[in-house]
Amino acid sequence: MSQLVVLVVFGGRSAEHEISLVSARFVVASLDRSRFLPVLVGIDKAGVWRLLDEPQLPKRADPRENRVDESAPRAWLLPTPVPGGRGRLEVEGQEPVPFDLVFPVLHGPLGEDGAIQGLFELASVAYVGSGVAASAVGMDKVLQKRVLAHAGVPVVPFVSFGRHELEAQADATLAACARLGFPLFVKPANMGSSLGVSRVADAGGLRAAVDHALAYDTTVLVEPGVRDCREVEVSVLGNEVAEASVAGEIVVTHRDGFYSYEAKYLDAAGSRLSVPAELAAEHAERVRRMALAAYAALGCAGLARVDFFVSGGDVYVNELNTMPGFTAISMYPRLWAASGMDGTMLVTRLIELGLERHAARAKLQTSR
Ligand SMILES: Nc1ncnc2c1ncn2[C@@H]1O[C@H](COP(=O)(O)OP(=O)(O)O)[C@@H](O)[C@H]1O
Ligand SMILES: [Mg+2]
Repeated sequence: MSQLVVLVVFGGRSAEHEISLVSARFVVASLDRSRFLPVLVGIDKAGVWRLLDEPQLPKRADPRENRVDESAPRAWLLPTPVPGGRGRLEVEGQEPVPFDLVFPVLHGPLGEDGAIQGLFELASVAYVGSGVAASAVGMDKVLQKRVLAHAGVPVVPFVSFGRHELEAQADATLAACARLGFPLFVKPANMGSSLGVSRVADAGGLRAAVDHALAYDTTVLVEPGVRDCREVEVSVLGNEVAEASVAGEIVVTHRDGFYSYEAKYLDAAGSRLSVPAELAAEHAERVRRMALAAYAALGCAGLARVDFFVSGGDVYVNELNTMPGFTAISMYPRLWAASGMDGTMLVTRLIELGLERHAARAKLQTSR
């Protein structure tokens, strides 16, 4: 059997560019080479696609030093199907490279928000992960909370507003935030990796936190801090029929007092993962059930990590990540490893799910 060519796409014009490179390294290392052949495409910080060789994948442990090589040959995908059914990567000055599926290992806006998934749909190529709508809703914390709440999945109460509303009526907008009760968490609606997220202890720090969030997105989300908050996560894998991993917990000890960018990526002592989470059996069962309900409510495909806040007997879904961190130490693969599935089995299954979803959608009727 000849190998399937997997286009691994990473980097991107997002603040999570650097993390994406570390995730891509894990995915490439986990590919079963007897079945799959990787072709690497790094999207540089300017948004230009570059065809890279495997040794060019950055190996540095500190994500801040990772960047896609901006001198590698330019590559692109045409937003139109190629006759014969396979995808075709165009490369500057070289023959086009045929491929069978895209594995977008991209986090954050333009990678995880449906934008690039739309390009794959137009080009009619198979890809790993959620489609346009679930990716977009998964990226937007405000839309996501509305969809989850509508489906009966408990979420933390919130207010949201745009820059325009803040400028038109600053006092009323900030007062509405304060009424939620301090401490508050202020976040950009569309981002990840805790970028732009602040914990605000009192009214004095609110405006600066809002302005900080507005540097990352035009919409801001403000919610009360959950007291005695435990952070529990569940990995979900599947298409219409999905399964949930065991739950894991992130125990945050960082001086920021929450799971900040520093605690996530820069300070190994800032947090630790506890797998499986030490939860009472009925709580563990409840979060797994809620993870599947949240996954179905958004209509996710392939994979998602569902993050919870657990406080005493209360459980809230904080957010879904449709392309969760995929580094060797990341929760998503670790939870599957604890559920008996290693990195290679997981990556293989994700590719199969992408191919299955593509095949099912290709059968849909396109005329009356
Ligand atoms: N309402 C909240 N109560 C307590 N902690 C919170 C709350 N919202 C966010 N946090 C903390 O901030 C971190 C990042 O927030 P999150 O909404 O998950 O954004 P991101 O998408 O960037 O991960 C969380 O992991 C948690 O530590
Ligand atoms: Mg988070």
